[in-house]
Amino acid sequence: MIAYNFMLIILYKMEIISIIIFIEGNINFKNVCFSYDEKNIFNDLSFDITSGSSVAFVGESGSGKSTIVKQIIGLLKPDSGKICIGENDLSKLNLNNFYNYISYTSQESPVFDGTLRENMIFDKSIPDQKIIEVLKQVELTEFYYNLPKGLDTEVGERGIKLSGGERQRLALARVFFQKTQIVILDEATSAMDNVTEESVMKNLMSFLKNKTIITIAHRLSTIKNADKIYAFKHGKIVGEGSFKGLLEHNQYFGELWNDRMED
Ligand SMILES: Nc1ncnc2c1ncn2[C@@H]1O[C@H](COP(=O)(O)OP(=O)(O)OP(=O)(O)O)[C@@H](O)[C@H]1O
Ligand SMILES: [Mg+2]
Repeated sequence: MIAYNFMLIILYKMEIISIIIFIEGNINFKNVCFSYDEKNIFNDLSFDITSGSSVAFVGESGSGKSTIVKQIIGLLKPDSGKICIGENDLSKLNLNNFYNYISYTSQESPVFDGTLRENMIFDKSIPDQKIIEVLKQVELTEFYYNLPKGLDTEVGERGIKLSGGERQRLALARVFFQKTQIVILDEATSAMDNVTEESVMKNLMSFLKNKTIITIAHRLSTIKNADKIYAFKHGKIVGEGSFKGLLEHNQYFGELWNDRMED
């Protein structure tokens, strides 16, 4: 086994294969430029996210937050510059393999045609008790108790329909079963009411402790406890720091906060 691993590392270093031998959760953007056709989104964007930290991206609509996370998950490629995940150059990674290390939840939160159980985890060996515990963490206990066949109730287009906030909570329930080191949440709680969101985020963050987390949220209270916040404007980082630090010293962040308070 040791010899096999050693051989993989040699092949990897020689850039003959592009699998991930190990991955740490730090994410580094170095001088990244990106345009959608004619529309320039970033020029020379650089930042570094430390492994195991929780980071939030905030900024006005259209400032490029989702475009950045789509680059991190390999959906969009930079025009120039470099993105590294751990020691790995993202452009050289085998994405199928990479997806074992990164999870991405967007606000769309699709529900598949299938049972509640299948929508949370495919592995049939997971005990019901564990699934029910996760439903509690995402505030879906009451929803679950009202289902005619419990975990085996069909949901989705051909079954019980879920509201926007319930769909998002179901999507977050999946995160509790994933073992990925990097977790990205792009407006993943936007349809929930404040009280539900606060409780679900508290449970999720406690579960995700020591993982690298990127949260994008318009509701700034969602990201209050992030280790570091990046404020984006027109594809540029115009502020970075703690919630308190930004509120005290960054005018743009202060304006965002005041606008959102009025929502
Ligand atoms: N596929 C695309 N083709 C062309 N332009 C795009 C595409 N996707 C996004 N854009 C544009 O790129 C800019 C950045 O979009 P992005 O979705 O990254 O913003 P955002 O900060 O996530 O905004 P929001 O807070 O509304 O989600 C916007 O002006 C948007 O219109
Ligand atoms: Mg977005």
